[in-house]
Amino acid sequence: MGDKIRVALAPGDGIGPEISEACLRVFEAAEVMDSVEFVPVEMGSAVFAKGDTRGMTDEAIETIEETGLLYKGPMGTPIGGGGKSINVTLRKTFGTFANLRHFQSLPGVDTVFTRAGVPVDIYVVRENIEDTYGGIEHRLTPDVVECKRLISAPGCDQVHRFAFKTAQSLGITKVHCAHKANIMKMTDGMFLERFHHAAKDHPLIETQDVIIDALCMNLVLRPQEYRMVVLPNLQGDIVSDLAAGLVGGLGFAPSANIGDQISIFEAVHGTAPDIAGKGIANPTSLLLSGLIMLRHLGIFRRAVRIENALLATLEEHIHTGDVKDGAEPVGTMAFAEAIIERLGKSPTGFEARRVPEERSPTYTPPTRPTVNRLMRTFETCKSMVCGCDMYIDTMLPVLDLAKRLERLAEGTPFKLTMISNRGTQVWPSGSPYTEIVDYFRVRFELRDAAFLGAIGQMPTIHLLTKIAEKFEIADFQLLKMYDGERGFSLAQGQ
Ligand code: NAI
Repeated sequence: MGDKIRVALAPGDGIGPEISEACLRVFEAAEVMDSVEFVPVEMGSAVFAKGDTRGMTDEAIETIEETGLLYKGPMGTPIGGGGKSINVTLRKTFGTFANLRHFQSLPGVDTVFTRAGVPVDIYVVRENIEDTYGGIEHRLTPDVVECKRLISAPGCDQVHRFAFKTAQSLGITKVHCAHKANIMKMTDGMFLERFHHAAKDHPLIETQDVIIDALCMNLVLRPQEYRMVVLPNLQGDIVSDLAAGLVGGLGFAPSANIGDQISIFEAVHGTAPDIAGKGIANPTSLLLSGLIMLRHLGIFRRAVRIENALLATLEEHIHTGDVKDGAEPVGTMAFAEAIIERLGKSPTGFEARRVPEERSPTYTPPTRPTVNRLMRTFETCKSMVCGCDMYIDTMLPVLDLAKRLERLAEGTPFKLTMISNRGTQVWPSGSPYTEIVDYFRVRFELRDAAFLGAIGQMPTIHLLTKIAEKFEIADFQLLKMYDGERGFSLAQGQ
């Protein structure tokens, strides 16, 4: 008992308990319980109902932190009342920086690709914490709102290292990085640059970058050309669902949220309230997520045996009612029993997974950190202030605005160099056809390059104070050079 790997188990809401029970029964029959002990934790609607807006008890959090592993069914997000999505809270709180999803054609699951004889077998690795998911949003003026999109070098490094390590362990020889670095040169640019940096540690894995829109088209036209794609958070979210559509829907897509210390394995679908309690839900997504978990623990042989038994079951057209192929559906438990009966078997008309040698599990639970880990990639980077951008809430005509700002900057180390609106330059040159709103970016840069390195941030604050006496400031940003390179984008048309 003492040698077993402990896993926190949250069956979830709606169909969660039914599909969890079915998965546990398969694990039991496949002798997974010889190495793993599932520890039930309280999480979900029952906890929300007690007034806890986190949706999980202190004991649940303790068990997850102690074991480093959570296997969870779907959970309902309360609408209104202050309760947040447990799924998002868990991912962010426990630093699960990578979301791994596997999309594969399954026997008996009819899609345009299976009909055309085109096999789909794609891993999507999505950055799981940063990007617009920081949820940092503000209303800046009456007409303008913003969402800050933060991308950090350590965040990129974590997800890229994970992608390459996973590709290597799965025998995948090519990894794509999808991005929009042609437009977002700094944020997606950093994501792409760190991808190529991480690739240097894996010289045997071929790499290619692909612009996100082209990726979407290619995935629909030629999905067989992709084995693993790594993406920033929001783009990864969208591409994950696109990829799910290629293999027959979310019901067949497993999901793992991986961190350095804690990892969460979950079904990607919701609680399916319309069929909850009827014993007809499909446990495949949760089961496949459990198989990613077993591999994460180093329990490869038993994971592959279960996967082959699942494939053999589906191949015989034994499935739950959500799969529409004309065959009579079975219930959740009967489906689990059918998998159990086929343990040791493999599909015949579909490529079976190779069953590896039995090895001892490799997992070790986390050691509780005493403080939050501070991550840093560019340790020796030198920055120098070279100006500032102020964002002004005004309806003044551009020329009047420029004249007044130039006057206010007289006698300071800065001169007005550019005004843009929604990212497009409108001064010193621009087109009268550019339509503008009540949120202007005004850029001040050093009058004399000799000031570079000689002044810090205070002169920009003094300028801000001067301008704030006359204008409504919506936002402020320092402009800096980092190791001699510009740390800010130019306006469109600049
Ligand atoms: P849903 O995924 O629960 O249901 C959409 C449709 O798919 C329904 O017709 C349902 O019956 C069917 N379906 C889903 N899973 C199935 C399965 N395993 N077998 C057979 N049919 C299945 O999405 P919906 O209705 O938008 O969300 C319901 C609740 O679930 C909401 O409270 C939502 O917040 C939550 N949710 C939780 C997630 C999680 O815990 N990871 C993910 C998505 C939604």
